[in-house]
Amino acid sequence: MSEANLYPVPEHFKKNAAIDLARYKAMYEQSVNSPDTFWAEQATSFLTWQQPWTQVTNSNLRKGEVAWFINGKLNVSVNCIDRHLPARANQTAIIWEGDDPAEDQFITYQELHDQVCRLTNALRERGVKKGDRVCIYMPMIPEASYAMLACARIGAIHSVVFGGFSPEALKDRIQDADCQVVITADEGLRGGKRVPLKKNTDIALNHCPKVHTCIVVKRTGGDVQWREGRDFWYEDLVAHQPSEAESAIVDSEDPLFILYTSGSTGKPKGVLHTTGGYLLQAAMTHKYVFDYQEGDIYWCTADVGWVTGHSYIVYGPLANGATTLMFEGVPTYPDASRCWQVIDKHGVNIFYTAPTAIRALMGAGNDYVTKTSRASLKVLGSVGEPINPEAWEWYYRVVGDSRCPIMDTWWQTETGAHMLTPLPGAIDLKPGSATVPFFGVQPVLLDADGKEVVGAGEGNLCIKAAWPGQIRTVFGDHQRCVDTYYSTYPGYYFTGDGARRDADGYYWITGRVDDVLNVSGHRMGTAEVESALVLHDKVAEAAVVGYPHDIKGQGIYAYVTLMAGEQPSDELKKELLALVVKEIGAIARPDIIQWAPGLPKTRSGKIMRRILRKIAANELDSLGDTSTLADPAVVNELIDNRANQ
Ligand code: WTA
Repeated sequence: MSEANLYPVPEHFKKNAAIDLARYKAMYEQSVNSPDTFWAEQATSFLTWQQPWTQVTNSNLRKGEVAWFINGKLNVSVNCIDRHLPARANQTAIIWEGDDPAEDQFITYQELHDQVCRLTNALRERGVKKGDRVCIYMPMIPEASYAMLACARIGAIHSVVFGGFSPEALKDRIQDADCQVVITADEGLRGGKRVPLKKNTDIALNHCPKVHTCIVVKRTGGDVQWREGRDFWYEDLVAHQPSEAESAIVDSEDPLFILYTSGSTGKPKGVLHTTGGYLLQAAMTHKYVFDYQEGDIYWCTADVGWVTGHSYIVYGPLANGATTLMFEGVPTYPDASRCWQVIDKHGVNIFYTAPTAIRALMGAGNDYVTKTSRASLKVLGSVGEPINPEAWEWYYRVVGDSRCPIMDTWWQTETGAHMLTPLPGAIDLKPGSATVPFFGVQPVLLDADGKEVVGAGEGNLCIKAAWPGQIRTVFGDHQRCVDTYYSTYPGYYFTGDGARRDADGYYWITGRVDDVLNVSGHRMGTAEVESALVLHDKVAEAAVVGYPHDIKGQGIYAYVTLMAGEQPSDELKKELLALVVKEIGAIARPDIIQWAPGLPKTRSGKIMRRILRKIAANELDSLGDTSTLADPAVVNELIDNRANQ
């Protein structure tokens, strides 16, 4: 990664942004030296509390215990809606841009309030109470945000499941969170194609007898099956409800949501976030990182099924009384000009997307971009995976006309909000670097012995003090939370990422150091894909690794060993791909399956993934030491087969 290029803070940002370099330094210093004072000030200025806290934080990373704003009471939906009404009832809260460019909707804060209250009443009528779990399996339509906010109003815990997940994956998540209510739509619409959400839900619910209510938004009007007594049209349930609904008094540490994410082992974990700290950090970062100013039109292209959608489509922007754009479709439909046209159509000032989209759009050619104006843009953002300097430069020069600083934001489902990121008025940029820590974030690099790397160097990225948006637990399994994040390096939160710090103190994320893949910005456990493959009765063993992929960042490469006597065939490959799609979803479909008569294993039987990664990446000169393998000949066989595919 080149560090040659430095992009200084543009002059007008230095003058006009909320935070310049001196202020960043002063605030950062206060945030780590006097965290209680710092966070108390921020929590007072960003949020409205029904009852003040008695203690700012009580956290112990050794035990994996984190708590913020102890005994404080607030309601997230009040913070995101009600308190804005006196000043903003008629301001647009959500601009909804449909998959079809002819469809859009402008939802004011008053309308948002009324919609959320109606649904709150409907959910209460269906028995939903504080602390209950509600699964949301929705397309990118306004009702998805209504559903999240209605849960927050009740104090119920939502678990949003990305609409691209299969019925099987949905079922696992409903069961794990013990949800009794599911909110979905008849069908989703993406890139002109219909996504059978109700049908998927029906299949999942066959194995979820505890779900007594399935609420269905009519999006496309497509045919759906119906189970009387369990299934209800959204429109029917909310139509007669009053547009006022009491908001529950919620403790700062009461759960707000569960969001499943992949790790290196086992099934996805239900990351649990709570109320006060999470909302504060989402709101603060949304304001400071994008230099959000009154009246700005803000667009994050993520899906609400991922944490980026939670923090930066719904909670952060709405807590700040912003106008947030929600896009139903995909960046390449009807063609690769769509994002830039939407920016012009709605006068978008802040645009936040993922490197995989940037690379795909870069590949489509500059004409799609340059034929649009984009004059409204002032800040660009990137999230989800390392952005390669080439894509960064293109984003900067072609999309932003060399005028808009790019905020490369590093964070995770578990961190709740941005952790390493520039601020547009304060931090000079280096393409490919997520730059410096946000307020209160104390990153450290640890070497293999757990010693802190001092100055420039490389190591495992850990965080050494609690922050407000931090994961509180893995739903139903606190020990798993402790084991995953706090036991590798006692006293630290371990991110699972490797990073380098340069002489200027800038951080460069080098990627995951565990068996987690990042495919088009989607997190995927290799173990999950392997478990799906071995379900096939002709498969004896499977090993999955990532390899460099031009658009996706990482592609999925699966080595499959068949049962004795079984023959490889294209037909079988198709069956295996279909099996992974069925078990997880299309996002987990392997790009390459290589038949592997044997896998490289140590004498104790452990698969040596390092070697498999090298073969997948075609880096055959640097296979490293193979002498500890039980059968070194296996490696040559895999290399020969690779050449044949
Ligand atoms: C990766 C998404 C480099 C990283 C918000 C992290 C990044 C994982 C960046 C979390 C970035 C996210 N630069 N890598 N700007 N942002 N990552 O939980 O490996 O879906 O651990 O959260 O994505 O993915 P998750």
